[in-house]
Parts: sequence; C-alpha cells; structure tokens
Amino acid sequence: MQTRWGYPVNDRGHLEIGGCDMVRLAGQFGTPLYVVDEARVRANCREYKAALQDTLPGAQALYAGKTMLNLAMARLIDEEGLGLDVVSGGELYTALRARFPAGRIHFHGNNKSLAELTMALEARVGRIVVDNEDELALLGILCRRLKVHQDISLRITPGIEAHTHEYIETGLLDSKFGFGIGDGRAKAAVRKALGQRELNLKGLHCHIGSQLFDLAPVRRAVEVMLAFADQIRRETGWTAPELNLGGGLGIRYTAEDAPPTVAAFVGAITEALRDGAKRRGFPLPALVLEPGRSIVGPAGVTLYDVGNVKRIKGVRTYVSVDGGMAENPRPALYSAKYDVAVANKAGHPPEEVVSVAGRFCESGDMLAWDVSIPKVERGDVIVIFATGAYHYSMASNYNRWPRPAMVFVRDGQAELVVRRETYEDIVANDVLPVAMREQRAIVNA
Ligand code: LLP
Repeated sequence: MQTRWGYPVNDRGHLEIGGCDMVRLAGQFGTPLYVVDEARVRANCREYKAALQDTLPGAQALYAGKTMLNLAMARLIDEEGLGLDVVSGGELYTALRARFPAGRIHFHGNNKSLAELTMALEARVGRIVVDNEDELALLGILCRRLKVHQDISLRITPGIEAHTHEYIETGLLDSKFGFGIGDGRAKAAVRKALGQRELNLKGLHCHIGSQLFDLAPVRRAVEVMLAFADQIRRETGWTAPELNLGGGLGIRYTAEDAPPTVAAFVGAITEALRDGAKRRGFPLPALVLEPGRSIVGPAGVTLYDVGNVKRIKGVRTYVSVDGGMAENPRPALYSAKYDVAVANKAGHPPEEVVSVAGRFCESGDMLAWDVSIPKVERGDVIVIFATGAYHYSMASNYNRWPRPAMVFVRDGQAELVVRRETYEDIVANDVLPVAMREQRAIVNA
C-alpha cells in the first residue's frame, strides 16, 4: 500500500521511507528526528543535472547550502557532481571540512566580513558573488594584500516581482541584496569590477525569490538579465560569459500545491535564454542555477512523539508533540502549511481533524492547523512531510531545547549524520563571570 506521499506502508502498518520503518527509527534515534531520504536527494540532483545537460551543454547546478548543510550533505553533493553555494564562514568551513572542492564553491552574502572574504580567498573558492560597492572595494584590497586573483560575479537586482512570500522575495530594487539595474548601480559596478586587475569578472547573478510556482517572473528575469548584459556589452565591450539565475523552484508542502517540475523550470529558463540570446546576437552564456529547496525539501520528514492530546469539545483538538518552532520555525515565520501523517497508523483512514501544537512557550508555536489524521493518542509517532529544506538549517535552541538528530535513510539502512544535542551541549558555551564562580559547585553538582 502506498501513502499520498508515495511512501509505502509495511506489513506492521507503519510508514516506510528509504526501506526504514519510521516507528522503529523514532525508537532507535529518539524524537524529534530529521529523516532524509538519501536516494530521493540524489535523484533530485540528477534530475537537475540531466535537465540542464539535455538542454544546454556546459550549464551547471550548484546546491544552495543554506537549505540544509552538514558534512554528510556536502559529501553527497560532491559525489553527485554539483557545485555548492555558501553564504557564511560556517557554511564554507563545513564544505572545506567535508573536502568539498573549493573550485566548485560560490560564496554569496550581502555583508560578508573581512574574515569571511579572507577565508574564501585563501581557500581559492570558484566564485565570490559580490553584492555591493563596499565589498568590491574590500575584495580588491584583500586580493592585493594576499597577492591573489579571484574570479567573481556580481549580484544584480533585476527589479522583478516573484509572487512569493515577501520575506523570501529578493529580486526587487527595494532589497538589501545586490546592485540594482534600475538605479544604475549595476552598470557602475560592472565598470568598477572590470577596472580591478585582481578581480576576474566572470558573470552576472540574480535570484528573484524562493518557493516559486509561477514561471513567468523567472522568464522575465532571464530577459532582464540578458538585456542588461547586452547593454553592458555594447557600452564596455565585456561579454558576460556566465549567467547565474539563482534557485527558487517551489515544492509541494500540501496537496493544494502544484509546483512546476524541475524539467519545466529548467526548460523555461533555457528556452528564454536561448531565444533572448539569439534575438540579440548575444553569445549564449554558460547557465548556472542554485536550487536548494527543490533538492532536499521533499526528501525530508520530521518525526515527533505525541504527548498531550487536548480535545476541546466543539472547538479544536490540540495534539502536542515534542518539538515545534525551534526545529521548524517556518509556520511561525511564513505561515507555512504541512501535511501530517501518523507513522504507526499509516494504514488507517483519517478519523479526526486536529491541529499539531509545538512544545515551546508561545501560542503561535503550531506546526499544522486542521489536518485530517487517524485518531491519535500519547506515544503515537507523528510525521510531518517536506521538511528537508530550511528546517535543520534554521533550527534554534529556543527554550534551551537541544536540537534534533538527523539520519539519512537508504536501502533499509539508517545512518546518523547529525547527532542529537545534549543538555551538556546547551551549556557548553556558557561562561560564568568571575564574580559568580564561587557558585560553580552548584553548576557542577
Ligand atoms: N540562491 C540564492 C542567492 C538564494 O538567496 C537562495 C535562497 C537560493 C539560491 C536557493 O533558493 P531555493 O531553490 O531554495 O528556493 N528560509 C526561507 C527560504 C529563504 C530562501 C533564501 N534564498 C524558507 O524557509 O522558505
């Protein structure tokens, strides 16, 4: 028997992912537990590679590390032959510790520190995606000091409405990211970059937003970027060899969501790029994409243990679980919606409408409103689907709650890739001021 999510129910009536029984996994590793279907992540990587290579030879995909990164994930992405987009010293460090080839790393960010830029230059990353004038100047100085040359691209703000949540829409002129085309900064930045001997300007970058379902703004972004590249070519003689259009493809969180396929998304971009370049007589630039959510989002689930079930007659049933906004802040931040199942009752039909509450001290800490599931009781295992992207990477220790473990499942094997934090980890970085240290015995007791 298959569930709505395409995962089978085994003969115990339990949900199975990657050949692993989710109820057994919850018992073995504890809850909350991030579970990642490794084969599905790999298949998604391959789908991007195939879609790109089929339509535009030389095109490449970088995985957006902000989506979910740890040593195992960095290794997986390397094994699949994708590049990696990092946005912080921490992500860069993770990638380097995982021996991810630096040449395939692109470094993003609207406020990279001197230390981060130095780290990236010393590591010899493939591209630094320069976001603003200040960074352009700093990078020139650092390159001279370190006596290195660096390949860069420029983050351009094309001024496009992406029809997504305003917090994850990034391509508008009124944005903290990038050089605007509309106010002339982008053109000035190209000239400035071309004038710096230590910097090799390799291309232009834009990212208009995330969780996109509508392909029209994506096509428009290609057009705007090509028109800009063409104008620059005529005015400066520099022909952008590379065009990076960021990530953004949406995924299905609930049955109502109907995102385009990877092939349709890539197809829309490559078609717009080919047509636009041909129309302008512009040499076809190498295409780069930076998908994140569409690679790991659908491949992840989170398992929870059901605790208190509060049935308020005629009002609502609250099913409280042992996690919430700390390991999944998305409902609170973006009003995100999720599908829910009960792993140990995966074969049962839906019996009641409940809302899944987190355990953190805020009324807004809810994981799902009004979902139809079998009748639940203490000790059941709740599964929330499509939690592979922007969950682990955005998790916090709110309420001093240890962050969950993560396992990769594949062919019936479960591998721990992030261990669960302990209470000891919670206090590990706390330091007692000297005047308080006589009370230390209490802390150590
Ligand atoms: N490239 C750049 C420059 C980006 O800013 C992003 C995402 C991506 C690529 C990857 O986009 P994706 O394929 O994942 O849509 N925390 C939010 C999403 C923030 C997206 C930030 N940028 C959420 O949970 O929905």
